[in-house]
Amino acid sequence: MSEKDQQLRALAQEEIDKYKDKVEADPYRQSFHHMPPVGLLNDPNGFIHWKGTYHLFYQWMPFDTGHGAKFWGHYISKDFVNWTHEKAALTPSDWFDKNGVYSGSAVTKDDLLYLFYTGNVKDEEGNRETYQCLAVSEDGINFEKKGVVVNLPEGYTAHFRDPKVWKKADQWFMIIGAQSKNMEGKAVLFRSNDLFDWEFLGNITGSNEEQLGDFGYMWECPDVFELNGKDILIVSPQGLEEDGMNYANTYQSGYFAGTLDYEQAEFTHGTFSELDRGFEFYAPQTTLDDNGRRILIGWMGVPDQYEQAHPTIENQWVHCLTIPRELTWNGEQIIQQPVEELKEMRGPVLLHSSITIENDQKAVRGVEGKPVELNIEFEEIEDQFAIELFQNVSLSYKDSILTLSRPHLEDKKRTEFRRVKLEEKLTKLHLFIDYSSLEVFVNDGKEVFTSRIFPQAEEERILFTSLGTTTFSIEQWKLEGFQFS
Ligand code: FRU
Repeated sequence: MSEKDQQLRALAQEEIDKYKDKVEADPYRQSFHHMPPVGLLNDPNGFIHWKGTYHLFYQWMPFDTGHGAKFWGHYISKDFVNWTHEKAALTPSDWFDKNGVYSGSAVTKDDLLYLFYTGNVKDEEGNRETYQCLAVSEDGINFEKKGVVVNLPEGYTAHFRDPKVWKKADQWFMIIGAQSKNMEGKAVLFRSNDLFDWEFLGNITGSNEEQLGDFGYMWECPDVFELNGKDILIVSPQGLEEDGMNYANTYQSGYFAGTLDYEQAEFTHGTFSELDRGFEFYAPQTTLDDNGRRILIGWMGVPDQYEQAHPTIENQWVHCLTIPRELTWNGEQIIQQPVEELKEMRGPVLLHSSITIENDQKAVRGVEGKPVELNIEFEEIEDQFAIELFQNVSLSYKDSILTLSRPHLEDKKRTEFRRVKLEEKLTKLHLFIDYSSLEVFVNDGKEVFTSRIFPQAEEERILFTSLGTTTFSIEQWKLEGFQFS
């Protein structure tokens, strides 16, 4: 670790100390989501289960609540509930990453931890340069930078970043999010035998490639993996037009499923499906853990989507990550479910079975407050059903359409909403409610809504409304939250 790294780490620590009281007094501080200790957090990075410990890094701007020269912040855990915040793993200290240690991934080889990331550089005129870089660690806490391993190939702009590395048979592969010189988003594949020398293989798919029409001007944060025999490419495209209920956020995150021909660098795939229907979800990353689970964590934010309107800005921090979700393939689509370790956060269960509401709005005894987990199972929804949280947010269902609405973050007089049409009738809603977020798993994880919410801190009420008759049961657990050390 260089002297410059140490200086930058020390400056970040000063910033943490300076704002600690202010940040921690914010009623919107979360209890079971990863946040920056100060400043801005965005993408999850380097997510890996290594020697029995989950390492979860994140894009971190300690000195500001806007974007800038990012660090890699670092959380570790053995069980997804007890977490330690480590000192910053990587800082923008070298010529090849001086304007940001941008997003990337982790793999392990010969007992070492390898981090791949994008070095973001601006030259004197403000032009962007990009370098794919490597850092290596023996202990998972201190990283030694090895410098640049991939330079920008011909045919792409400097929007070329976010290396995700994995092993297939005896070879290493790297997928990169890119923009072609024609302003098309692409996913670009590389191959290596030793993690240092990388061979360029080309675009596996992208906007205006054979498989797709016009599909955005930039693709960020790609991730390739196998899920029950399917090859999956997760990617965050920029530049999709809103289309009915789809693509309602400023930028999207979703997946293609199909078959990747590693020799030809060709991905044969179906259509794009959004992973999440809420207001804040972007740049997710997955890892395969030692128990064989494919686990995903996303950023609970979207770039350029009124980030400065988040009320936490005045307390010198912004954004958090989603809870970890286990992915499976049901033969047709990805299913997302909260990892089961989160049950460890639960207090005793409160159960109400067979509640009936008819043309009325009601509270259900004891169901209130935050942070809580609610599991609602429906016997019958005759016409319309809605849950109202804290006089602030509503989740409603009618004619197969599930709608989440909240006061517009910039213009609070307006309501903004996100919707999805369910293929099957609504049978289950599984809600994780934190001090300033809501994650809803619909029908056992066929759809998910992830959003920040900013209700009045003292507001505890949860109300249920039915037009016609609705019959349902509720389980509620108060949540203890993560234990941070
Ligand atoms: C996605 C992203 C990445 C980039 C990082 C910079 O949110 O723009 O493409 O590496 O954030 O923080």
